Amino acid sequence: MVLGVAVSLASPLPRSADEVLRPTDVDCSSSPEWERFRLAAVAHSRNGWDVEASGAKELESMARSLVAKWRWIVCKEDCQTTQHLAWFFVEDWGARCKASVNFDRYLITHYFRNRGLEFVQRTPSEYCHFGFLTALVIAAQFEFPHSVAQAGRMLFLAYVLLGDFFAFDWLRSSGWPADSLLVMLNVHIVSQRLLVGKDLEQVRAAGWLPGLEGPAFLRLHSRWQGTSEDAKKTHRVLELDAVPALRIWQVDDHTALAGEAKTMLTRFGHAMKVRVRFLGNSFPGNVCRNYDLCAQPEDKELLQGLLRRYYKEKQAFATVAAAFEEALGQRLSREADVLMCSQPLGWCRFLINLRMPMLLYAGLPVMWDVPEADRTGWAADFADILMSQEHVVIANSVFVAREVQWQFGVRVPTLRPLGLHTNAMHVPVLNASVLVSRFGTSGGLSECLLEKFAAVNRHWFPLHFVQMESLLFAEHLASTGENELEDAKTWEEHTSEIKVPHMPYNKLASHRAVVCMPYDTSIFLFNEFYSANMPVFVPRDLWRWLIGPVTAPMMEYRHWTADQAQVPEGLGVPRSSPFYASVHQPMGVEQALEWSAYSDWAMMPHVLYFEGIPELFLKLMDAKSLNQASVSMKVFNDEELVIAVENWRKVVQRLIYAVSANN
Ligand SMILES: *[C@@H]1O[C@H](CO)[C@@H](O)[C@H](O)[C@H]1NC(C)=O
Repeated sequence: MVLGVAVSLASPLPRSADEVLRPTDVDCSSSPEWERFRLAAVAHSRNGWDVEASGAKELESMARSLVAKWRWIVCKEDCQTTQHLAWFFVEDWGARCKASVNFDRYLITHYFRNRGLEFVQRTPSEYCHFGFLTALVIAAQFEFPHSVAQAGRMLFLAYVLLGDFFAFDWLRSSGWPADSLLVMLNVHIVSQRLLVGKDLEQVRAAGWLPGLEGPAFLRLHSRWQGTSEDAKKTHRVLELDAVPALRIWQVDDHTALAGEAKTMLTRFGHAMKVRVRFLGNSFPGNVCRNYDLCAQPEDKELLQGLLRRYYKEKQAFATVAAAFEEALGQRLSREADVLMCSQPLGWCRFLINLRMPMLLYAGLPVMWDVPEADRTGWAADFADILMSQEHVVIANSVFVAREVQWQFGVRVPTLRPLGLHTNAMHVPVLNASVLVSRFGTSGGLSECLLEKFAAVNRHWFPLHFVQMESLLFAEHLASTGENELEDAKTWEEHTSEIKVPHMPYNKLASHRAVVCMPYDTSIFLFNEFYSANMPVFVPRDLWRWLIGPVTAPMMEYRHWTADQAQVPEGLGVPRSSPFYASVHQPMGVEQALEWSAYSDWAMMPHVLYFEGIPELFLKLMDAKSLNQASVSMKVFNDEELVIAVENWRKVVQRLIYAVSANN
């Protein structure tokens, strides 16, 4: 029987997420063995994971025999070292996810192509991924009294099965009772027993979502008051002052932050009583055009030539800084008033000798692109810049501002990107389409699973998912009239990230809602969607999604000034290091939970969170609450814009002070 959309809508919506049907690839209900184990495991977790309960013996033997039967899917030989790990489980998923372009693009690339391994096409086996993960956890629980080491090994295998970047962690959608926090916490701490129940829930509660209670937390932590810039001198604009002009010369390797500064300072210059002009020296060819900040070809050659001497030819920092001064000093003192760095911040170190006011807009870690040998020197210079009357340092998010505070003991103001350059507005004319935004490896399984859930719930779920990259690909061909992009004729053939010169923001904002799976602590697209008042769905367990440059252990550096820092009133100092997210070792879960609450994802109000795909589907169907979210976002966005203009005005006043003191 073929049902049209109109007829299928007549099917009543499930009353709860439990009633949403699950694909058998996920709950494995088509196999009597797995189904019997699943029901017993669910009962065990409902029982508070009580190993003394009746039926525990039987559960233990089921778990142990499943572990013995399927261990080969994740390791070879005696399974004693990480050398023995095997990726058969990825191939098994590959067999089930043949139709998913993004499985190939992200997961086969990550696990096989990037490791020089061959991906073997298989037919789906009787393997049950989430069932096996659960069996490992339960077997470990019963193993603890006999051998802590052996139990630890089983938990480690469960951790491997969550996937690099947690790409295979869709446990919360699966109907199986284990979850990734349980696995991670137990792998991370050394204990004599499996930590479950209340102990686990207490830890989980640290990963709260302040935005659910409104914007107060975000506003408190991003306010100007009490920041390093608030303590510096500033130019007070008198009514009779002639409108000053500010020429900002910028250089970067990623345009978004300079673009944001330009948008705000030029669009609202009248409110700030200043005329700002940007002299763009942004390198990335596609993105710089979105903001009209592309470097002139001869300047790009000059700047990249200087940088090459440092990064490629490994010339000493002082030598290259002197070359910068010689090449640019005179010219910039004539042509510009302020020098700006953003991504990366460290390039401003080459410009210190020019003795001009600098604006540093932090979005990446302070040590990004700084060679090991120069970190101490840059840290000392940066600590001076933070306190200097001559310079202004701001951050693009509370997360990054707190990271700088943890590193240097100084709290800088937060100016969150609003992304007004998009000029887009949410008008859901494509009301049956849900956009899935760009994601990283962590989201690699999502396309496959969303499609499988949609297929088995078609009788009541009429919506379709649109992968953003397929839309960008099609738009690019349509707008250019070309028939291929980077040698690919179809989206499926194009296996790397799709970047196009013009983003069709209004088309993106025509979808019913957008699903964002974070791959960093902040992502510009999220702000862009949010500013367009587009309902945004985000996974609730944020702690495991925020793995990116800003949380990378490689970027860890703590300057001595951090230990002498004054505690800002009411805000507290970060207790743990933000550089917690190791990819190939279990990450610091408690740190991840503490820090995730300070991400935009957690602090912005009206974000729609989902725990698993069943909950996502139900919430997507609730048109009324989507509309309500959009209306509330509009009110919030209007308020935020006024606050942002006021903060950018303060940036300008600081810069004008610095320029006049410099002359
Ligand atoms: C989309 O909008 C049309 C026109 O208002 C309406 O008839 C239809 O039911 C909507 N579809 C969904 C899935 O909400």
